[in-house]
Amino acid sequence: MPNIQISTIENLSFPFKKEGYFFYPLAKSSDNKESILLVSFEDKKFTFIVKKREKDVLIKADKITNVIPIAVIQKALSILAKESGAEIFYSNVESRKTKKAKISPYFKDINYFYNEFKNDRDILVEVGFGSGRHLLYQALKNPNSLIIGLEIHRPSIDQVLRRLEVEGIKNVLVVNYDARIFLEFLPSNSVSKIFVHFPVPWDKKPHRRVICEDFINESIRVLKKDGSLELRTDSDNYFKYSFELFLNLNKSSMEIYKNRDLEVSSKYEDRWRRLNKNIYDLIFKNEEISKEKEKMPPLDFEKSILFSKIKAKFKKEKILEKDFFIHFENLYEIDKEEGLLKISLGAYQKSEHLYLLISKEGMEYIPSNILPSYANLKAHNKLKEWLYG
Ligand SMILES: C[S@@+](CC[C@H](N)C(=O)[O-])C[C@H]1O[C@@H](n2cnc3c(N)ncnc32)[C@H](O)[C@@H]1O
Repeated sequence: MPNIQISTIENLSFPFKKEGYFFYPLAKSSDNKESILLVSFEDKKFTFIVKKREKDVLIKADKITNVIPIAVIQKALSILAKESGAEIFYSNVESRKTKKAKISPYFKDINYFYNEFKNDRDILVEVGFGSGRHLLYQALKNPNSLIIGLEIHRPSIDQVLRRLEVEGIKNVLVVNYDARIFLEFLPSNSVSKIFVHFPVPWDKKPHRRVICEDFINESIRVLKKDGSLELRTDSDNYFKYSFELFLNLNKSSMEIYKNRDLEVSSKYEDRWRRLNKNIYDLIFKNEEISKEKEKMPPLDFEKSILFSKIKAKFKKEKILEKDFFIHFENLYEIDKEEGLLKISLGAYQKSEHLYLLISKEGMEYIPSNILPSYANLKAHNKLKEWLYG
């Protein structure tokens, strides 16, 4: 994480503007343990954590806002170091050679699916593609389809992106997002196959399993009529659990196989076969045509509220509901009318960590607005109740 350690910040007179960067006054936490420095540059807002220590002051990038390009964060830090006129004990900003990262055109952010995605092709989705053998196999086998690969393990993503480039495969989009929420951002009746191959069994924490009631319902919505969801697993527990869930549906049609051979075998499959483990396939066929899903509006705040009112009722607490939560983590005061509320909220399996900037002009999430998934929408509405109540 970019950071600097300097002798003092006494000579910095906040707020100030330099080279297009606006540095807000320090926002102080009630326990005085740390301050948050809010910075805006062009249309971006991001934060630093400022800690006054016995012999120096540490200013470090805040991981909540690490979606901001690193070069922007580094530049802000180098302005602070220079303007402070202080002795610099440590800096990993100036020396670092910022390599211009090449972003693969096949790597897409979840915002792309909310804001821009237009589907003009048949779609196949693979959940947790791991080494990507099956994903690439499907891409080559179905050149006219779009294959969307979901994965939360960054090294696997990078490996597959390299393979796409080397093999010149152009009909794949790779997304680093939790599969249980991703499907909410796809249009209804647009997918012909969803592959869930060797999901993590999570026998001790079944609530973390990819296959769950919400995932099945969203799968049915996005699947075309006659489209299918293919679960392949070596875990008889997971197989039985999934079978029960599909059986509980009002209408269900499934094919079951034991030790079926596929044309491609994944790394996990090779391992289980060497151990002579059984492999189960459950193929659920969708027979419904689902209603089109309306695009959810962005999660905004209609009116502002006095920071002093928030300060009066703030306490570090959690609101825990069945399918979402809000955690009020800390409150930082910039002045009587402005401040930052540090919160995490949303689905238990995919929470958002952010600040809410409260000022006379209005309220906004920092570093950016959150996507209107079902859980985020519920949490956002609950937060508004808390703020305005
Ligand atoms: C056991 S590996 C199987 C990988 C691959 N399908 C195969 O057969 O070799 C499970 C993969 O699912 C990914 N994964 C786990 N939970 C996920 C989630 N909620 N959304 C997307 N991917 C997930 C993991 O990172 C891991 O790469």
